[in-house]
Amino acid sequence: MTLPSKAKIVEVGPRDGLQNETTDVGTAIKVELIDRLVRAGVKCIEATAFVSAKWVPQMADNAQVMAAVQRLPGVAYPVLVPNMKGFEAALDAGAKEVAVFAAASEAFSQRNINCSVAESLERFRPVVAAARRNRVKVRGYVSCALGCPYQGEVVPGAVAELAHALFEMGCYEISLGDTIGVGTPGKTRDMIEAVARRVPLKKLAGHFHDTYGMAIANIYASLEMGIAVFDASVAGLGGCPYAAGASGNVATEDVVYLLQGLGIDIGIDLAMLIETGAWITEKLGRQNASKVARALSAKAAAQSAGS
Ligand code: HMG
Ligand code: MG
Repeated sequence: MTLPSKAKIVEVGPRDGLQNETTDVGTAIKVELIDRLVRAGVKCIEATAFVSAKWVPQMADNAQVMAAVQRLPGVAYPVLVPNMKGFEAALDAGAKEVAVFAAASEAFSQRNINCSVAESLERFRPVVAAARRNRVKVRGYVSCALGCPYQGEVVPGAVAELAHALFEMGCYEISLGDTIGVGTPGKTRDMIEAVARRVPLKKLAGHFHDTYGMAIANIYASLEMGIAVFDASVAGLGGCPYAAGASGNVATEDVVYLLQGLGIDIGIDLAMLIETGAWITEKLGRQNASKVARALSAKAAAQSAGS
């Protein structure tokens, strides 16, 4: 099996990560986090979410974050939007890329965005149309692609159906989310195989949470199938507020280590990324969930103690 020669990371720490952290780090730290990630070489960073502050208070400063981030050419700063209200606010804030998010599980859709899957698609249709008029790119998420915290099993056919609907609507890429991190490589392969019958593989991305420690294995399985875009969160921050017990996304440091080890080019400076992860976990007062960051930091500490 030939692996892709290039891959892309979509850093979701400032959104998927911080949306579920209990410590509110404040707008200035969020902005500095994004700037540091850019300096480490990350080219796509999901910056915030234009969702209801009643539902996710951690993202209430969305417009302030967008106003303060120094946006560099060649770097994308997508934001999450659930409906037209969110899209209009994102547009006002100068967003050039948005992401809509649906779930392959009815129960999760109700808990997360308070509507059925079909209703969510109807909400996204005008968003995608307005985005096209305003030259804003739209990415689509399919949550619960490998299991649902409320419903349990999710069949690959349901994921494929929804991914196809989002792609047909005009999403340029579909990110397949293992929201609660229950997937295994075999399940990942079956799901991707089903989706790839409806959406070209080159238009798919993997979004793996690491609750069961399977994310890196699932990414490897996805790479073997030809997927080359992966969402990840520096230091493995976060989780999902509507998926109790779900841990954060796979740590970006771990994905970079994997890809670099496979000789896959991603243009990210691992040392700078590790420094950023250490900095944000200190601000949050939490442990760094990246095994690579922990191992390399321990090695560096041992070396400096011995010298
Ligand atoms: P609702 O209560 O059904 O909305 O929530 P509504 O249309 O009835 O409006 C109720 C109130 O919300 C109104 O305000 C609206 O103006 C306001 P009020 O009159 O009560 O003062 N409102 C908004 N405010 C700000 N921004 C908006 C917006 N829309 C309405 N966009 C809604 C529906 C979708 C708004 C709500 O359920 C919501 O915000 N949900 C977001 C949940 C969320 O952000 N979850 C986490 C992200 S998804 C995720 O993490 C998974 C992912 O990472 C992939 C994976 O891991 O699988 C992407
Ligand atoms: Mg997620």
